[in-house]
Amino acid sequence: MKHLQQNWLVYLIGLIVLGAFVERALRPTTISTAMAPVAILDSHWVAPSLYTDETPKGDALEELLYGEDLIVNTARYFGPKGSVAQITNGMNCQNCHLNGGRKAWGNNYGAVAATYPKFRDRSGSVESISKRVNDCFERSLNGNAIDTNSREMKAIIAYMQWLGKDVEKGKVMKGVGISQLTYLDRPASPEKGKLVYSNKCVSCHGADGQGQPDANGIVYNYPPLWGPHSYNSGAGLYRLSRLAGYIKDNMPFNQASHEQPALTDEECWDVAAFINAQPHPSKDISHDWPDISKKPVDHPFGPYADGFSEQQHKFGPFKPIIAARKQQASGK
Ligand code: HEC
Ligand code: HEC
Repeated sequence: MKHLQQNWLVYLIGLIVLGAFVERALRPTTISTAMAPVAILDSHWVAPSLYTDETPKGDALEELLYGEDLIVNTARYFGPKGSVAQITNGMNCQNCHLNGGRKAWGNNYGAVAATYPKFRDRSGSVESISKRVNDCFERSLNGNAIDTNSREMKAIIAYMQWLGKDVEKGKVMKGVGISQLTYLDRPASPEKGKLVYSNKCVSCHGADGQGQPDANGIVYNYPPLWGPHSYNSGAGLYRLSRLAGYIKDNMPFNQASHEQPALTDEECWDVAAFINAQPHPSKDISHDWPDISKKPVDHPFGPYADGFSEQQHKFGPFKPIIAARKQQASGK
């Protein structure tokens, strides 16, 4: 009898262990989702969190929090009613670098710490993080550069370096920056894009594309997409591939993600063409791309080393340009 009881105990323990295995095996999706960041850690960037990071303390933590706030609420400090200086169009960095520069495929800052300083063909020079930050002040925020030695620049850089602290120097991980969509076989169409805009974007960004400021007119609840307060012609989003890729993984806001986009590639190219066909502040960028053969296929301003028009470089089709460049490079 005693012997049987002992056996039962063994069977019972066995059953519990087996049950645990079966239960795990039956919920593979939960497990793989929860563990995904760990399993592919060396390829997919996951932003750290200031709430769980125990390392920065005191002044260092204060600086990081200030840096984060400058990205999230830029207009409060530098907008037309800014407390530090009035030098921008009133947009926040976060309007384009979503979730404080943390969102996967949301134009995040996951590559900054590991890849700067770096040589950039746009300027033809080695750029520091502060130079790149000021590029966005001058172009995306259509404003002025801020002092490289200011408390604000130091905090922004500290925040970006902290965000990218786990990325191996020189490496770029998956989920960083903006997606590259496949090219269409036809030019992107502002006319078709206008329809996409009226159906999917107008409710937040407005029929006139001017967005919607908050009640005090200090920051935008919905940022402008064109017109005098939008990014200028030298900005990254003025290139069609950047704008289309950004839209695909991120717009409409809070609906689209890389895993679940709300628009097809075609709709993204067309709505991007519609937005960039509208007026934007212009910037003199004649000194950009000192080596014109390095201009990206969708750089919308000549002169070009290939024979294609500004119109085609702006709206596509881009495949013939790529093919011609390949042929040229291979010396045929
Ligand atoms: C209107 C949209 C927009 C706004 C606003 C904006 N940026 Fe950007 N930013 C971009 C785009 C587009 C890129 C280039 C992405 C690419 O080429 O894939 C970029 C790139 C960058 C990069 C380089 C990232 C890298 O991995 O190389 C930094 C740093 C940066 N921005 C900082 C800022 C800061 C700081 C602000 C606020 C002062 C700001 N940006 C505001 C659109 C914007
Ligand atoms: C539900 C409201 C909403 C809808 C709908 C929406 N957006 Fe946005 N959009 C936002 C918000 C909010 C931001 C800024 C995000 C932030 O600051 O965190 C934004 C930012 C942007 C930006 C970058 C900032 C700028 O102003 O240049 C672009 C480009 C953009 N949206 C395009 C689109 C397009 C195209 C559509 C339609 C396909 C769309 N949005 C639909 C709310 C919306």
